[in-house]
Amino acid sequence: MRVILYTGKGGVGKTTASAATGLRLAAAGLPTLVVSADPAHSLGDVLDCCLSPQPQTVAPHLDAVELDAREELGRHWGALRDYLVTLFRSQGLDEVLAEELALIPGAEELATLVAVDDWARASQYEAIVVDCGPTDSTLRLVTLPEVSDSALRVLLRIQRAITTLLKPLASRVTPAPLPDGRVFREAERMLYETLDRIRARLIDPQTTARLVVTPERLVIDEARRAYRDLSLFEVRCDAVVMNRLFPDAVADEIFFQDWLEVQRGRMKEVESFFSPLPVLTAPLQEDEIVGLEALSAHAASLFDEWDAAAILGVSGALRLEASGPGYRLKMPLPGVSADELDVVVVENELHVSAGDRRRALFLPDTLSGAAIHRARIEGNELLIEFVLAPSPQAQPR
Ligand SMILES: Nc1ncnc2c1ncn2[C@@H]1O[C@H](COP(=O)(O)OP(=O)(O)OP(=O)(O)O)[C@@H](O)[C@H]1O
Ligand SMILES: [Mg+2]
Repeated sequence: MRVILYTGKGGVGKTTASAATGLRLAAAGLPTLVVSADPAHSLGDVLDCCLSPQPQTVAPHLDAVELDAREELGRHWGALRDYLVTLFRSQGLDEVLAEELALIPGAEELATLVAVDDWARASQYEAIVVDCGPTDSTLRLVTLPEVSDSALRVLLRIQRAITTLLKPLASRVTPAPLPDGRVFREAERMLYETLDRIRARLIDPQTTARLVVTPERLVIDEARRAYRDLSLFEVRCDAVVMNRLFPDAVADEIFFQDWLEVQRGRMKEVESFFSPLPVLTAPLQEDEIVGLEALSAHAASLFDEWDAAAILGVSGALRLEASGPGYRLKMPLPGVSADELDVVVVENELHVSAGDRRRALFLPDTLSGAAIHRARIEGNELLIEFVLAPSPQAQPR
């Protein structure tokens, strides 16, 4: 199952690129679903039709859907949420505030991913294109399985302690409602099944992100950070979309000559920074891109000679290699300088911080007890050399 995620700074053309890609795939005969996971939906506007949280057919082989994350959340973890609302209300909070507080951080994003994964598992589609919304929310989406993993483990441990140790006593002395079995089951399902399968979907080689940019400094800088952060969480990128390029025809106008010069420079910079990812381009159109015809033309510019469904470029994957007496871990981490990087082993986890993101990776058994010998940046990769703990020597008799 091919899953393509579109992300980028606000307003750069993500929704347009997602819809255009969906249309291109469908036109090639691939049953495709375009999902709007951006809470501020505009997929319906771009496709010039009215969408709902249920997929509906918008063109031959093409369905589209605007997800309702809260509804998905209620479907999967309603009991957990209802319990939290009751708990907060019992503490004197009013209904609205209790409902706001009961929104488990990131749970909506998680519910969104579950819906995408459900469609990816169903045999109805061969490709899913996701309009992820602005970079920040995309990164919340992809980093979430790991972040919630640790938060939920703590939550579960506390809940278990309450029920097993305190429930008989607590129900007599406190008016706060205690969680019942359904709450536990939902939390456990979230922890042990959902997070694993979401994570597996995100790092699947058939899932890739495409970064949409325009030839503007701030937009490109944000995409560079997104590329680094996605790589840190092992989500592969396979292409960059450079949208809204001034067509060469404007070179006749003196006013645009400087702009064209700047644009060429930015294009070169993007090609070199994101290499080996290809840069797909689309010109600035005279008018908004709305409706199937305009979207097909946009797709034709973007993909030109490219196959829209293919993995267009390879952004590397995490590798562990034997090296002399120890091991070497190679992690793609484009555009990171040594001074914004921190690498440390805590028990059996490797903690890598790049900029303001941090990831904890479970080390494989092979590296159990290993220590970091050194870490350095080589090209676009972080290279960590491990030395193994000396194996316990047989005692002389
Ligand atoms: N190449 C282009 N030429 C002209 N207009 C464009 C082009 N690409 C996108 N647009 C227009 O720019 C507007 C924003 O595009 P779009 O909604 O795809 O951006 P977005 O990145 O999804 O924005 P948001 O962050 O708000 O979700 C739309 O009106 C769209 O029609
Ligand atoms: Mg959008």
